[in-house]
Amino acid sequence: MNDKVNFGLSKIKKSDKTRLVSKIFSSVSNKYDLMNDLMSFGLHRLWKNHMCKLAKLKKTDIVLDVASGTGDLVVKILSRQPTIEVTCLDENSNMLDICKDRLVDSGYIKNTKFIITSIEDFLDYKEKFTLATIAFGFRNFTDHKKALDNLYNVLKPGGRLLIMDFKTPSNKSIRNLYDIYTDNIIPNIGKFVVNDYDSYKYLSDSIKTYYKPDEVSELFCDSGFTNTRYETLPGDIVTIHIGYKF
Ligand SMILES: C[S@@+](CC[C@H](N)C(=O)[O-])C[C@H]1O[C@@H](n2cnc3c(N)ncnc32)[C@H](O)[C@@H]1O
Repeated sequence: MNDKVNFGLSKIKKSDKTRLVSKIFSSVSNKYDLMNDLMSFGLHRLWKNHMCKLAKLKKTDIVLDVASGTGDLVVKILSRQPTIEVTCLDENSNMLDICKDRLVDSGYIKNTKFIITSIEDFLDYKEKFTLATIAFGFRNFTDHKKALDNLYNVLKPGGRLLIMDFKTPSNKSIRNLYDIYTDNIIPNIGKFVVNDYDSYKYLSDSIKTYYKPDEVSELFCDSGFTNTRYETLPGDIVTIHIGYKF
């Protein structure tokens, strides 16, 4: 049956995935930022800075940040270009509430809008945005093709899409170490810090069933994006894909 999708290492009904993913992010939302620092030893900050650099942000950009979560990437974008407009889209209101508070605290709230929906349901037919970004959200989506089609539709011609997510390391020895870290250590940090082993086990397992970088590039092309390329960041566990709408 092709209405089954990956959920961590399990296969579940496609219609159940958004709800189950949302439950996970509601459960981890309060300690999400702390956990990111602990799990990545703070490296996620460098990865997000690099993503902003690759995005070549311009004052005139109109940005759609998808899967904004607690707004980590959005704050970085606005700290580099404080006058640009950013729309934060996420299907989880707990995560987006924290994002709003953070944008108020950092003084950027006036440039931002918020949309609570899954990207698969974001059917807006106006070409409004010059840049779309997704940091560590794409692998949680239910229908990746639909998400990319919807993003393509809302970008202006010349607009670009950047997606950052995890990858499995290519080197076997590094992969073995990485598996020990993601299978055992991350879920146990989750148990200790948020009393939630299962959510962090899902987040780790979802990396294993996620696409290979070339498959993500193919998906970009299938949805009409051109000049697609990707960069693998040092450490071989994160990639950033870029594609353009012409
Ligand atoms: C791992 S967090 C990433 C947050 C932030 N971008 C960051 O890098 O810190 C993933 C976010 O994706 C959101 N998400 C998952 N599936 C989604 C979907 N189909 N549409 C929109 N948001 C989604 C979750 O609610 C969660 O807030």
